Amino acid sequence: MNAYETLLKEAAGRPFAAIVGWPVEHSRSPALHGFWLKQHAIKGHYGRLPVEPKRAALEELVAFLRRTPNARGCNLTLPHKIEIMPLLDRIDPLAKHIGAVNTVIKQADGTLEGRNSDGFGFLEALRYNAPHWSAASGPVVVLGAGGAARAIVATLANAGVPELRLLNRTKSTAVDLGVAFTPADGRQIVVDNWDDRSQALAGVTLLVNTTSLGQKGQPPLDLDLSRLPRSAVVYDIVYVPLETALLAAARGRGNRCVDGLGMLLHQGRVGFEAWFGVKVDVSADQRRAVAADLGV
Ligand code: ATR
Repeated sequence: MNAYETLLKEAAGRPFAAIVGWPVEHSRSPALHGFWLKQHAIKGHYGRLPVEPKRAALEELVAFLRRTPNARGCNLTLPHKIEIMPLLDRIDPLAKHIGAVNTVIKQADGTLEGRNSDGFGFLEALRYNAPHWSAASGPVVVLGAGGAARAIVATLANAGVPELRLLNRTKSTAVDLGVAFTPADGRQIVVDNWDDRSQALAGVTLLVNTTSLGQKGQPPLDLDLSRLPRSAVVYDIVYVPLETALLAAARGRGNRCVDGLGMLLHQGRVGFEAWFGVKVDVSADQRRAVAADLGV
């Protein structure tokens, strides 16, 4: 039985979506969507679909979603978030702006729309965990310029941050992001040298780590927090472990902290609501369930 047949068998005629990636076994998306399906007693399914990083394999995925009546869409993870774009019928303007799609929604007419919910998830988790933070109130530092940073930088710029300081080990990637996401109204994205990251923390209202540093199996993030205002929010998008060394150090000196699990959970709301037609929220119970699934 191939992966499509397995998914269809699991769905057993119910509406379904799936996480699509290569590899896909490690994904926690089935746990977070499975929680909502159960919580709301929805007769639906969310599975996993390994799809090889080849154009023909993505074309097969798109044809499968179009022709299968109970297929509602999918999430996309590495390495498909960009390559899927030309194969879809429509890309919503925010996903086009970010340059990547993580959610595919089948419309009533059978066409496929690509969206990006990473920025939404990032901002919602920030609003829930640090409701006092306001985008307009001062400069922000973002560390990293990879895939996650694209959505986060675009979102912070759209939210009205007056000055965004962007630092990445590979400076040219940060410069590319600065060019792509600098707002037209004169607000700035300033690219600083990676080695100056500790100095860049002076006067900021928010520090975001989007690099993989601090993640299990990766080196720690070497950062001196002494210049960071104690009123600043510290947001690490790493979620294994939940409490990174960065968050532990920031919490220890009194900074409000946001871990990466909230972003993962909130980004899922966009797809879930479109596929299954039920409004959902993130709860402490869901956090516990997904954290247990992650083993953190
Ligand atoms: P994601 O999609 O999760 O953002 P990614 O696109 O691979 O993952 O990006 C990883 C980020 O972590 C990049 O900003 C990367 O910096 P480079 O652009 O210089 O590669 C950063 N990163 C990874 N390992 C690093 C390290 N040892 N030191 C500094 N930055 C690191």
